[in-house]
Amino acid sequence: MTTSFTIAIDGPAAAGKGTISKAVAAELGLGHLDTGLLYRAVGVKVLGGTPAIEAAQSLTPEDLQRDDLRGPEAAQAASKVAVIAEVRAALVDFQRAFARRAGGAVLDGRDIGTVICPYAEVKLFVTASAEVRAKRRFLELSVKGEAETLEEVLADVKARDERDMNRSEAPLRPAEDALVIDTSNLAIEEAIETALQEIEARR
Ligand code: DC
Repeated sequence: MTTSFTIAIDGPAAAGKGTISKAVAAELGLGHLDTGLLYRAVGVKVLGGTPAIEAAQSLTPEDLQRDDLRGPEAAQAASKVAVIAEVRAALVDFQRAFARRAGGAVLDGRDIGTVICPYAEVKLFVTASAEVRAKRRFLELSVKGEAETLEEVLADVKARDERDMNRSEAPLRPAEDALVIDTSNLAIEEAIETALQEIEARR
């Protein structure tokens, strides 16, 4: 593998991009950055009273270690701060530096193939129907004992899709040269295999 080899994996919430990214990074020995965590960390600081732009500009490694980043509140807060151009701008350099780290990197998010790393050697867009994604997220939350109904989760997923796809700054959409993987009817192992085949073809 060349010293910098970037794999960009974008897609809507709960489509499977996180699982695929982790599996690909582990299989190929690459670094992995879940860029949604950056926005979640900013969102959680905003919920705590810090103005959004200030929160993004002063993000620390400790902010990314908090244990309240994974829940639905953090997700909605992240999606809201993610529409702000200055917030996105404050996070660009870190993501680009990670993408070019020696040995190669996998980044997953919404705008990796379109804005952060348009030069990425591999671009994947992982998607699934809103209903399938909501069901998956609902099952994850149920296992953790979090009390959200399927209807609430579906409404959250749709609200986030709507905001992420229709914002003027770096909207969620597949890059022209991205391979689209629809996981609605795919087992996760099949989706990972499809991703690995595409990566192999591009190396
Ligand atoms: O991937 P995630 O569900 O953790 O992302 C949370 C929110 O952060 C998502 O709804 C929109 C925003 N986000 C973004 O705008 N750009 C990214 N590269 C990653 C996440």
